[in-house]
Amino acid sequence: MVNLVPEKLPKHVAIIMDGNGRWAKQRAMNRIRGHQEGAESVREVVRTTRELGIPWLTLYAFSEENWRRPRYEVNALMKLLKRFVRAELEEMLQNGIRLQSIGRVHKLPQDVQKVLQEAEKKTASNRDTVLTLALSYGGRQEMTDAITAIVRSAEKGEVTSGSITEELIEKSLYTRGMPDPDLLIRTSGECRVSNFLLWQLAYTEIYLTPTLWPDFRKEEYLKALEEYQRRERRFGATGEQVAGAKGRWEL
Ligand code: FPP
Repeated sequence: MVNLVPEKLPKHVAIIMDGNGRWAKQRAMNRIRGHQEGAESVREVVRTTRELGIPWLTLYAFSEENWRRPRYEVNALMKLLKRFVRAELEEMLQNGIRLQSIGRVHKLPQDVQKVLQEAEKKTASNRDTVLTLALSYGGRQEMTDAITAIVRSAEKGEVTSGSITEELIEKSLYTRGMPDPDLLIRTSGECRVSNFLLWQLAYTEIYLTPTLWPDFRKEEYLKALEEYQRRERRFGATGEQVAGAKGRWEL
């Protein structure tokens, strides 16, 4: 049985969904079948996130590096994404889920961008859970885009070297306005960050599981959340300070 304390749930869960290809290979199926089954896990994890009242969920659905995959696989992933957004729109509207995307989304095919934009517009006023899809996303590219924006402001005289702060950088990232992830989950036994949310993961708890993404369903997700609740988050302070603060941060 899984034991969860509502007050100790993370506010923001980020997930590197990995292992679709291996899941398919183990079953002598083609990789696309793995991605289709992975989309079912997405559905279940989104639903569970909403049920638990976790306000932010960010999924690494397509990385900048994923463009290097064979054309047929990229096409299949784009088709799957479009189908997923269309199929889930009604449920997102009913359940207060807001959809948004981060990354160089302008690189996606026009039809996929259109479906995403429509869903983002229709769900824009939802407040319960924000589902962020990282698409054509890379952490280094995000930082490159942020630095470009800051230098542009500097060229216009709006920013000087003395006014560069963490807040200014945060405001220039794709994730502006979002809290940093409390928990990062990566499936399939890989132990890498793979260019995901490089700035934002500074203090994030990391949960690694050998489970392949298509097998990562509600029960596995609850196990990850339970493990998160057992962690002591110190943000650079000592264990004694954390115990003494009892939720109040007087460090
Ligand atoms: C990694 O598995 C997964 C991806 C590159 C894409 C993630 C896509 C999905 C979960 C399906 C659709 C997404 C949505 C939002 C509906 P892999 O192919 O790298 O697996 P492998 O490492 O075993 O080859």
